[in-house]
Amino acid sequence: MQLDVFTLVPHAFAWLTEQRPVATVLGTGLDLRLFSYRDTTPLRAGQVDDEPYGGGAGMVLRVDIVAAALDAAYGGTPDHRVVALTPLGRQLTQDVVEELAREERLTLLSARFEGFDERIVRHLASDAISVGPYVLSGGELAAMVIADAVIRKLPGALGHAESPIEESFSSALEGGPEYPHYTRPASYRGWDVPEVLLSGDHAKVRAWRLEQSRLRASGGA
Ligand SMILES: C[S@@+](CC[C@H](N)C(=O)[O-])C[C@H]1O[C@@H](n2cnc3c(N)ncnc32)[C@H](O)[C@@H]1O
Repeated sequence: MQLDVFTLVPHAFAWLTEQRPVATVLGTGLDLRLFSYRDTTPLRAGQVDDEPYGGGAGMVLRVDIVAAALDAAYGGTPDHRVVALTPLGRQLTQDVVEELAREERLTLLSARFEGFDERIVRHLASDAISVGPYVLSGGELAAMVIADAVIRKLPGALGHAESPIEESFSSALEGGPEYPHYTRPASYRGWDVPEVLLSGDHAKVRAWRLEQSRLRASGGA
């Protein structure tokens, strides 16, 4: 997958690229590119935003700046998916993550301050996604949330220590929550691990886990 992120704060992504699963697939299954709007702005002194027409507080990311950044990266409007990150976009869910993970090329546009000139969302992006119904100070954290959730779905991203098959929202668990996990010690302060997990009976363990997942889905656990 080629994942391109347009941002005003490219260095914010340093941490993400050093961590698994991103670090694991970087350079093999993943080509992650970071673009700063300031590198391609045709305005003086790295200007990328401007005051809102109609007045009011805050600065708005200019449409010509984002268009210039896309032109420089792709030689025009890209023919692959370009997602604008905004609090008002379609809510990110595991289904949306799976959908994004199937893209061979994906571009994320982030803003700061007051956000995007609306023409960016309408004409330069193909859709808009929100990571939740709350307002972050910038799109970088939203981009990292999406990048992490998508990248861990790429082949080879997860090691033996994490299971991508059976986890919350996976089809193996009927789209429901994961069951509870326990590890040593088997008893601590009188808090005991459920007997069935110590039984060595794989069929019983499997049945118990499915039951726990369904209980959680119904709000019962
Ligand atoms: C301070 S926010 C702008 C908020 C905007 N003025 C509003 O009231 O909806 C700046 C930028 O952060 C990003 N952002 C903030 N919250 C987000 C969220 N929940 N999901 C995705 N991106 C978000 C977007 O790129 C947004 O343009």
